[in-house]
Amino acid sequence: MKEKTIFVCDICGYDNLKWFGQCPQCKNWNTAKEVRQMKRVKSASDNQRDDDTFEALFAKREEPLIRFMTRFDSFNRVLGGGIVPGSVSLIGGDPGVGKSTLLTQIADRDITVFYWSGEESAEQILLRAQRTNDGSLDRLFVYNTNRLELALEKLSEEMTGSSTKIPSGSHPLLIVDSIQTMRSDEVDALPGGVVQIRECTAALVAYAKQHRLPVFIVAHITKYGQIAGPKLIEHLVDIVLYFDGDADRDLRVLRSIKNRFGPTNEIGVFEMGEKGLQEISDPSERFYDASANDSGNAISVVLEGNTPFVVEVQALAVSTHFSSPRRLSKGVDQERLNLMAAVLSKRLNLPIENHDLYLNLLGGLKCNDPGIEFPIAVAIYSSFFDKTIPPKTAFFGEVGLDGKIRGVSFSEKRITELARLGFRRIYLPKSKANAGVIKKYGDVSFIECTYLKEALTQIFDGRS
Ligand code: TYD
Ligand code: MG
Repeated sequence: MKEKTIFVCDICGYDNLKWFGQCPQCKNWNTAKEVRQMKRVKSASDNQRDDDTFEALFAKREEPLIRFMTRFDSFNRVLGGGIVPGSVSLIGGDPGVGKSTLLTQIADRDITVFYWSGEESAEQILLRAQRTNDGSLDRLFVYNTNRLELALEKLSEEMTGSSTKIPSGSHPLLIVDSIQTMRSDEVDALPGGVVQIRECTAALVAYAKQHRLPVFIVAHITKYGQIAGPKLIEHLVDIVLYFDGDADRDLRVLRSIKNRFGPTNEIGVFEMGEKGLQEISDPSERFYDASANDSGNAISVVLEGNTPFVVEVQALAVSTHFSSPRRLSKGVDQERLNLMAAVLSKRLNLPIENHDLYLNLLGGLKCNDPGIEFPIAVAIYSSFFDKTIPPKTAFFGEVGLDGKIRGVSFSEKRITELARLGFRRIYLPKSKANAGVIKKYGDVSFIECTYLKEALTQIFDGRS
């Protein structure tokens, strides 16, 4: 095919024959890059096989979703109940968080793993696997490569050839580590760029569907927390996973933000240790420190999907040297911090605008649950006045702009979890719905709150 030149948006991958100043798709300016193209770049829709005729839905049902399980129960759950043949999953995360370790540990008796590595040498991977994978490693095959077409050719020999390494009954699986190191000969662009990432991902998706081979693609994330070549590969794949962690505490959290084969509300919690990653089956106890008694630390219970987690909110309020104070938040959306600061300023007359505010969730958890708002306000207030919170005390509830504490879903689950872990005083929104569960725990004091101002006065009254 004749060579031609196209312009591709460096951020979202939109392409056009003509140059564009503003990308019509993602609306960013000056992101058009000129790319020489040997062949037409495949679009995601090319991966879909066209049916010959209309087919009744029940006819499709004859091919049920057969899944197979890895050694990690929580990994299976995050995937929606095991690995679906032909599914393509993207796993993003900071360098060093443990993506390669996690995927290597999947190699197991019944799973034959083909591991393309463009980053580490085969020796490195095998050495690590010897430490992290109990038992035999004869199901792990590493191939050092960054050339997509060649690697696919080699893989095809295993998938369809007569002298295959895949024993019958064993499930084959491909790991691509990482997508940023792969390049396809079909486009003339640098590896790691949007064009190569898109081309390689599209080719992998097509291959996965054609051979019903599950593929895991490792992607590094940028400093803005997005997968490099951002949204565009997320659209191409079936499942998008993020692996997060807090380097200090060796805790790692796996979550899915997109899953065509299941819900996205399960998370998996792991601990990185001497022998790689271990699953943590009762993770709730890991995200707070019951012994700590410093000002600025408030304990709460949040829901991640269906699972209640006890978490520790840490806030630091320090008088600022900047004309506009700093607001930094880890684990909670910054907007939520701004909102709580505004409510404290307006409803409690706290001179918060003269203070920098830092917020952190212990253990690297990320939380979107509105029930974290009341504890955030408590933690900020505690740090602001340098007053500690009584031990064995926890808080949950949403805070309205009017300074009222509002009810949140799953109160009963939250209360049960706090009681189970030995909390003795729970500040919660006033709600008739809680009466039943409150009665169940006679030895816990429940303080039902309506206004943030009153609640804070009550919590810190007489405390130093
Ligand atoms: P790795 O899987 O290479 O991270 P990624 O692929 O996401 O970049 O993990 C690297 C880190 O994990 C490294 O800092 C060392 C640590 N680690 C352990 O603590 N124990 C282990 O058994 C392994 C394999 C790694
Ligand atoms: Mg790696």
